[in-house]
Amino acid sequence: MSDPQGATLLAQASVPAKAILFGEHAVVYGRPAIALPVPQLQVTAIVRPDEGSLKVDSRYAGANGPRMAAVDLATAGPTEPLAAAARAALRHAGRTERTPWRVSLESSIPAGRGLGSSAAVAVAVVTAVGRAAEPEEAWGPQTIAELALEAERCVHGQASGIDTAVCAHAAPIYFQQGQARPLLLGCPLTLLIADSGLRGSTAEMVAGVRARQAEHPHTYAEWFDRVGRLADDAVRALAEGSPRWLGQLMNVNHLALQAMHVSTPQLDQLVAAARHAGAWGAKLTGSGGGGAVIALVDDETLAAVSAALSAAGAVSVLPLSIPPSG
Ligand code: PMV
Repeated sequence: MSDPQGATLLAQASVPAKAILFGEHAVVYGRPAIALPVPQLQVTAIVRPDEGSLKVDSRYAGANGPRMAAVDLATAGPTEPLAAAARAALRHAGRTERTPWRVSLESSIPAGRGLGSSAAVAVAVVTAVGRAAEPEEAWGPQTIAELALEAERCVHGQASGIDTAVCAHAAPIYFQQGQARPLLLGCPLTLLIADSGLRGSTAEMVAGVRARQAEHPHTYAEWFDRVGRLADDAVRALAEGSPRWLGQLMNVNHLALQAMHVSTPQLDQLVAAARHAGAWGAKLTGSGGGGAVIALVDDETLAAVSAALSAAGAVSVLPLSIPPSG
């Protein structure tokens, strides 16, 4: 394999962004959740021969334009996420850090918007390094997700693993306690993801929920149980292809997230605007404190809801079409 400049390509992998449809935060406490891939936004990793130890460099969409990050396994510390992903993949392949390769990453996923930027990067590094190390043997999505989770833990502290799982599967998943299974969709889904333009910190939001649930364990256990039941009901609503039911479940999930204090006035405003303009339902997606909302629409309401989200302050509105499956 060679790239347009004629240089040898050892391997390549492209990984989508993600959106959580149900169950963020409760999933950290073992409750089920549902996540979708967002293929319009992607990370691509390319592995080329180099010298010395393995290096990773990354070009990604920062808040004020393109940003660069680079690590060399010879010098990177144990909590550097790009290095953690590469080390996990090399270890799984039985190789040392002195593998003379360079992994180059290009990402169009904005960071800190609940769209799984760090998870997609980690999954892309692991997948590409795995393909370069063992071209004959494809690693399964469960293995890739677990290896990439080692990098996610450097970024987010405690992480449920749902982000790396959906990025590795690149398909809608039902996720609980480290295990993902593909979801049956009885009808196509049309969604809008509206970026509030404000950056949230997953680590801070997860730590905030942890502190509040330690103070009010029974209340939070009830919220988490309720959210878990919403995810289970959503499996049925998705299989039956019932957008009305699904939208109602999304609205109730947003209420639970408000109760957990992870929504913001801007996110609430976007959610309200989407519903008012005719969405079946809307909620924040991801850890909150900033980031994005997700709204369920159909062909008739798509344009009006998209316009309403922009008018309510969204800096971008991304349509997402998921075909029926199973
Ligand atoms: O990284 P985000 O913003 O997509 O949030 C991840 C989902 C959480 O449930 C908040 C954390 C986790 O590890 O599941």
